[in-house]
Amino acid sequence: MNFQSVSSLQGEIQIPGDKSISHRAIMFGALALGTTEIYNFLQGADCLSTIHCFQKLGIEIENLGSLIKVHGKGLHGLCASSSILDVGNSGTTARLITGILAAQPFASVLTGDESIQRRPMDRIITPLSMMGASITSHKKTRYCPLSIEGKSLTGIHYDSPVASAQVKSSILLAGLYANGTTSVTEPYVSRNHTELMLEQFGVPVITHNTTVSISTASKLYHQKIIVPGDISSAAFFMVAGLIVPNSCIRIQNVGINPTRSGILDVCIAMGANITLENKKTDIGEPTADIIVKTSNLKGTIISGEMIPRLIDEIPILAVMACFADGETIIKDAKELKVKESNRLDIIVKNLSAMGADITATDDGMIIRGGKPLHGTTIDSNNDHRIAMSFAIASLVADGVTAIQNAECVAISYPNFYHDLAYLIRT
Ligand code: S3P
Repeated sequence: MNFQSVSSLQGEIQIPGDKSISHRAIMFGALALGTTEIYNFLQGADCLSTIHCFQKLGIEIENLGSLIKVHGKGLHGLCASSSILDVGNSGTTARLITGILAAQPFASVLTGDESIQRRPMDRIITPLSMMGASITSHKKTRYCPLSIEGKSLTGIHYDSPVASAQVKSSILLAGLYANGTTSVTEPYVSRNHTELMLEQFGVPVITHNTTVSISTASKLYHQKIIVPGDISSAAFFMVAGLIVPNSCIRIQNVGINPTRSGILDVCIAMGANITLENKKTDIGEPTADIIVKTSNLKGTIISGEMIPRLIDEIPILAVMACFADGETIIKDAKELKVKESNRLDIIVKNLSAMGADITATDDGMIIRGGKPLHGTTIDSNNDHRIAMSFAIASLVADGVTAIQNAECVAISYPNFYHDLAYLIRT
């Protein structure tokens, strides 16, 4: 797909529902008794993979477009799938569902696409095994496919070496079934949607600093869930509005949960003209309209506890840093190497190819802003966030930018190019 520079972006858009919350809404709805209704569910390929997996596990799920109805069967209502569970490209589905399957009275086999088969699963196999789970990876690689033989589990305390909501959530979901208390301590706080949703479904959660604990659950109660707009999707238009000249964009109803809103803090530190209006909170998840206007930006440092709060936004923040005065340093971001692609390598390779002054480091990158970008051919590596980041970069690059496998945006934002076209003023 080819892109060119534009002279302005103007208008108001509604971005799709939050991916992390949409996955969890299906999972918790399946484990609750009764019908859970989900509004503004993300109809992206990843969340559809979660629906398909739970349908295979015997849960009736009606996808009515603007409304999803999950006819939950309770904590002990899942049944064995007659075929392999395919999570597609979705790391969240793979990690979270494994925590649930580890405690079921049946065996399951789980796999996904080529990218999933290269993503580390030892990060969940290790703690779940400590709880008594039996999980074997084919070829002893500790990657998918995984064979999971359900067992009765015992609660543990786990000191996670990584700040990962997928790891934390996998352990907590297993903890619903485990004897005693299950707790996880992370080096830094990761997104807390699982904790908030557990409480919404009636499971008490104790959070203290970076430690979260739950005890064996007896019942989850069906809920109505209104999924906020995904800040990770809004991020592309936030940055676009800041770096494309003469722009003003209003992005409606974006989730601004503090465990996800690192990008807002970074934009403000970089001098962005960004305001929040219509702030609301629904069941612990705050939302706001985000208004961005073209801004003169300056470099910053992004590191430490900030990283998990903006982990999925680093590709687009790297693009933004190319348009900031001075140096932007991104560090402590090794986790980016094990996302849908090796995002550290791909960002540096593609931005260098567009003419950016960027240097890879062991755990991040250093970007010296101010060098003009030019169009070239960009390999998205079939990574949705890479494709969208470079579509935005191309709006301020000289000449034509050709993005390969651009359609992979369907993972998290099927209407991305449509929404982008809607904002363009030439
Ligand atoms: C997610 C957690 C993050 C994030 C991913 C979604 C989640 O992954 O990158 O896109 O929904 O829990 P990690 O937990 O591996 O950091």
